[in-house]
Amino acid sequence: MKDKITMTIPNAAEYVAIARLTATVIANTQGFDIEEIEDIKVAIGEACNNAVMHGKNSSNITLDFHLDEGRFLVEITDEGDGFKFEEYSEPVLEAYEGRGLGLFIIKTLMDDMIVESGMGNGTRITLIKNKE
Ligand SMILES: Nc1ncnc2c1ncn2[C@@H]1O[C@H](COP(=O)(O)OP(=O)(O)OP(=O)(O)O)[C@@H](O)[C@H]1O
Ligand SMILES: [Mg+2]
Repeated sequence: MKDKITMTIPNAAEYVAIARLTATVIANTQGFDIEEIEDIKVAIGEACNNAVMHGKNSSNITLDFHLDEGRFLVEITDEGDGFKFEEYSEPVLEAYEGRGLGLFIIKTLMDDMIVESGMGNGTRITLIKNKE
C-alpha cells in the first residue's frame, strides 16, 4: 500500500483527541491489536502535546499517516520554533522532577522515533510501529 492520509489540526490542546482517535481508526484498519493501538495512541498524544506546548508559533499541526504494509508510520509536523534535538538527553528516572518524559515514552512505545528539528525550522517527528 502506498496510500497516505493527511490531517491538519489547529495547534491547540482540544484537537489532540481528534488526532489520537484518527490514529486509532487507521491502526485498527491496518490490523494492529488493542495493545499496539493503545501504544500508538499514547505516543501520538505525546507528540501532539509537544507541538502544542513547545511549538507555540505554529498555527497548525499536520499528521501524515503512511499506510504501508505491515507497519504504522506517521509524520507529525509543526512550524514552531523547533529545538536542538542533538542536545536532548533522556530523563534520569531516579531524579524525575515531573517533566520531560514525553519523548522517552514515545521511544519506549514505538519501534522507531525520528526527530528532525532545528531552531526556527519547526519540528517533524516520525513514529513507526511494526506489526508483530
Ligand atoms: N514539537 C516541539 N517543538 C519544540 N520543542 C520541542 C518539541 N517537542 C519536544 N521539544 C523539546 O524537547 C523537550 C523534551 O520533550 P518531552 O516531551 O520529552 O518533555 P516535556 O514536553 O518537556 O515534558 P512532558 O512531555 O513530560 O510533559 C521539551 O522540553 C522541548 O524543549
Ligand atoms: Mg512532552
